Amino acid sequence: MRSPGPKPTDSTTHSSANVLVIGADTRMMGQIREVLGTEAPLSAIATPFNEAMAVASKTRPDVVIAAFDTEVDEAIRIAQQLKAELPRAALVAVAHTADADRTRAAMRAGYDAYVVLPDGRDLLRQAVHDSMFSDAPKDDAGELITVWGAKGGVGATFVAVNLAAELSPVQRVCVLDMDVSMGDVAAMLNLYPRAGIKEVFKNLARLDERMLRRQMTIHPSMIHVLAQPKALEDRAEPSKDSVIKLLTTVAKSYHYVFLDSGSRVDEAAVTAATLAKRVLLVSTPDVLSVKNAWRRLQLLQRLGVDQHRISLVLNRVDHKHPLLTISDIEQNLGRKVDVTLSEDRVAGRAVNDGKLLREYDRHSQIARDFEAMTGLITEGKVTPEKKPSVSVFTSIFKMGG
Ligand SMILES: Nc1ncnc2c1ncn2[C@@H]1O[C@H](COP(=O)(O)OP(=O)(O)O)[C@@H](O)[C@H]1O
Ligand SMILES: [Mg+2]
Repeated sequence: MRSPGPKPTDSTTHSSANVLVIGADTRMMGQIREVLGTEAPLSAIATPFNEAMAVASKTRPDVVIAAFDTEVDEAIRIAQQLKAELPRAALVAVAHTADADRTRAAMRAGYDAYVVLPDGRDLLRQAVHDSMFSDAPKDDAGELITVWGAKGGVGATFVAVNLAAELSPVQRVCVLDMDVSMGDVAAMLNLYPRAGIKEVFKNLARLDERMLRRQMTIHPSMIHVLAQPKALEDRAEPSKDSVIKLLTTVAKSYHYVFLDSGSRVDEAAVTAATLAKRVLLVSTPDVLSVKNAWRRLQLLQRLGVDQHRISLVLNRVDHKHPLLTISDIEQNLGRKVDVTLSEDRVAGRAVNDGKLLREYDRHSQIARDFEAMTGLITEGKVTPEKKPSVSVFTSIFKMGG
């Protein structure tokens, strides 16, 4: 079992990237290898500048890291060639010393980032992450799916995270933690965010896709998480306008945006429900939960949310010893239950270990329930072949487990 306390080292990701390093000396190479670790298994020796284009054409890297130190002219020349040959690759210049003139020269040459090592190790790691978005389609807005609990503890976070995980191998998927009082998304994924929703709301006026992506924490499954702050005194109760601004920006960067709305009836949950393509109302099969599902359904109706956009998800269904039967529930709510998820102890164990169901036990009943539920979200639209961005994604960061 993992400990709920602070984590000694940062490990927001442990995946594998196709990275080419050019012109780095042994010391720099060592630093790069240390920074990228398992994200990009690299040999001990960098490719020399004069061999770089031949290697790049053959290996088609997604990220090219070039030393911008002693052979500056070479580094500038190679950037121009790489831009022509591999327009989608992210180019990162690395140096041992900070230098404003050189930074400008690197940017002019076409580098996406200038990183000084060892201080800029986070930047380097980030640059590798950002490269995933190099071919993100900009015109098609993603779908917002809000997950709202009928009451606390029914499994809203659990549903948001594990459903997102079904789509993340083949789509760009994020989970926004909008549950101000609980903020469990990062913990459920065993992530230790350095930034999150607090930073977004603090800098809302200049929010754009790039800024937003910097606040995301990336899970090895490729789910991007916008986390709640750790300390409750840092929480923000966003206004309707702030939520709208956040959601419209997020929708530009991801195919599917899952919102963990918690179970409160607050401005964020209500705004999200009215904007979302789909509202997953999560309830458990007990009287208090069903009663509060009913209250939320009434509210959604008054807010003008179309019934067809609402899916009632009944979680923790014990088929052998039901407290309330599905037909009891349907009768009480005056609508059908759209999805049932089984009561399964694998759920509690996976959550406690900070693991996804599919990582923990993909053959369990509950994992299979989630697999079956995916169709509700995609309506049969998602096939890996249909999404060209998929290959870029999965080749840069392979699944962690
Ligand atoms: N289908 C299930 N079977 C067994 N336990 C479940 C199931 N779904 C959720 N749980 C348990 O319920 C707990 C609360 O889930 P969580 O997603 O945190 O609820 P919420 O976000 O609605 O407050 C989880 O820790 C998990 O152990
Ligand atoms: Mg929760």
